[in-house]
Amino acid sequence: MSIDNINRPPITPQQYEVLHGGGAEAAEIANQRISRRRFVRRSMLAVWGISTTASVAGALYMLYPNLAGQFGSPIAVGKKTDFAAELPANFKKNVAGVYYRQQAKTYLVHLSKETKFFLNGPQLSDQLSAETVTKDADGSYWIAIYQRCVHLGCTFDFRDTCISFKCPCHGSHYNVDGEYLDGPAPRSADRFALTFSGEDIIVDTGTLNNTVPHPDQTTRLIAPPTVECT
Ligand code: FES
Repeated sequence: MSIDNINRPPITPQQYEVLHGGGAEAAEIANQRISRRRFVRRSMLAVWGISTTASVAGALYMLYPNLAGQFGSPIAVGKKTDFAAELPANFKKNVAGVYYRQQAKTYLVHLSKETKFFLNGPQLSDQLSAETVTKDADGSYWIAIYQRCVHLGCTFDFRDTCISFKCPCHGSHYNVDGEYLDGPAPRSADRFALTFSGEDIIVDTGTLNNTVPHPDQTTRLIAPPTVECT
């Protein structure tokens, strides 16, 4: 059945007569029928347009989801003053030097400006950059360590008792700065980019450095803890 047939109002015998007789009345009836046809056509086009727009919008959302403030995008995790800096030997989870932020799946590490590094000069600067360690204007150092173990993806934890990160699954062990210590992990822990916005700490969970290898004598930044971690 065509659109014309659907839209055409039933014609009364009287109208039929007038139409076939011609004149002003016939013209009026014909105009009404044409107007209805146009109205229905335009309505169908509008419905088609709306559904097409909705489909395109849905496809764009699937391709480019709005992640603002969510994991996978930059996340403000707090103010600088929320994270007191500390020397590695005094680290205590969520109290001094190392702080967990669930929304960013990150351990935020804040090393004191007094931290002793094995390297110095340009070598130190290069290695800090290679390990995504951000130096602050006050001389302290910030690292955003992704909580996911680089062995098989378990979530590791910071242990105050051995001042280091230990994975509960197969025992991979990382220093306070995320550098590999021992266990099956194929590299050091991964890190997110970290920046400052005024006094806010921004962890970019969409930008991951997953290329820090096992350290050796020429690249290791910080001394391993002296306590054993079983
Ligand atoms: S997943 Fe962490 S050691 Fe295997």
